[in-house]
Amino acid sequence: MNESQLHELLLQALEHERGGVKIYKAALKCARHPELKQEWTKYLGQTENHVVVLSNVCTALGIDPGMQTPGCKIVKDLGAALVIAMETALSAGNPAAAQIVACDCVTLAETKDHANWELIGEAAKALEENKAKVLADAYEQIEDEEDEHLYHTKGWGRELWLESLGLQAVLPPPEETDDATTAVEAARAKVAADTAREAHR
Ligand SMILES: [Fe+2]
Ligand SMILES: [Fe+2]
Repeated sequence: MNESQLHELLLQALEHERGGVKIYKAALKCARHPELKQEWTKYLGQTENHVVVLSNVCTALGIDPGMQTPGCKIVKDLGAALVIAMETALSAGNPAAAQIVACDCVTLAETKDHANWELIGEAAKALEENKAKVLADAYEQIEDEEDEHLYHTKGWGRELWLESLGLQAVLPPPEETDDATTAVEAARAKVAADTAREAHR
């Protein structure tokens, strides 16, 4: 295990969670569907907790959670760009379009968030006992939430896009109603939405 690259991963993941808090605050201004607002309000609270958990992981591993590597700066700038995209969409005066932009931005951010936690889970398996436990405990606590953030938001984005195209949309998306928390369940939820659409044709 390349220890300095593990530190880089944890610091970038922490920076990404900090950006995630700002992304959800901006996304909530764009959300119009009451269930979507409710979901993202929950995810905002969970993301705030992810910042705390990852800060504690860094401290336990002897890493300064305030340290900003060049990689962290890139992560920070990417997150800020997503916030700017949502604010720009909101100020354009088309609330339905801004809600879709927010879904796209949250999906992009959560794709990376999900990938970070998968890597943290893999790294935990390769570390010596004490450090492994620190990472594994955090991973166990958070991985299901990251699955939900990604798969549910992706479902909202797909169905809101379809609605905007004037096509049959299933809202809230089946990922939401079936509580999909794995890639397989999310794929099944998408099939359920496609089947419902077929039935309407
Ligand atoms: Fe997160
Ligand atoms: Fe997340």
